[in-house]
Amino acid sequence: MTDPTPSNLSRLRGFIGDFTRLVERFDDEAAILDSGRSLLAGLVAVDDWLPDAYAQPDPVHYRQYLLHCDPHERFSVVSFVWGPGQRTPIHDHTVWGLVGVLRGAEHSQRYELQDGPPIPSAADFLPVGSVEAVSPRLGDVHAISNALTDRPSISIHVYGGNIGAIRRSVFDPLTGERKPFISGYANNALPNLWDRSKSVPQAA
Ligand SMILES: [Fe+2]
Repeated sequence: MTDPTPSNLSRLRGFIGDFTRLVERFDDEAAILDSGRSLLAGLVAVDDWLPDAYAQPDPVHYRQYLLHCDPHERFSVVSFVWGPGQRTPIHDHTVWGLVGVLRGAEHSQRYELQDGPPIPSAADFLPVGSVEAVSPRLGDVHAISNALTDRPSISIHVYGGNIGAIRRSVFDPLTGERKPFISGYANNALPNLWDRSKSVPQAA
């Protein structure tokens, strides 16, 4: 996969290394989210590292590109690309998750489940650089949408597992009916984090 714009992949490589240390050190969700929030805020603070291949919107649906999955599936890192007006259905996660906005802006609408339609609760505007957490403990049901109507937005999500293997649910907004789903990935190839020759000046 060629990348027309050089990207600073060392930033993503460093984040993955730091997050790996974090999940080795803690298995407590609150501790992981507390430190993980700072790590993700650092990653999305500078927009120079996401290769263009993982930043491409789809005309109809939002896209999710896997950037990294921990070998023991303790966490995964995913780039979500939202075209103008695109949104998720109302969904849960069943594991902890962090959402950090890299480009543009997003809305996160949280819901409370009941018999019948889900009840909207907190609504958060997520500007670039912000980080939001979800989990069954904190509130696990929401819908995210691109807050911009004229251009894509991109957020980087970290989940407490391989989100492409986790059985979870979407909810009908009118009836509350629960439907099982497993989210897939738009990409078959991952960014090559390990070609470090490009950071070394080439001989003339
Ligand atoms: Fe979500």
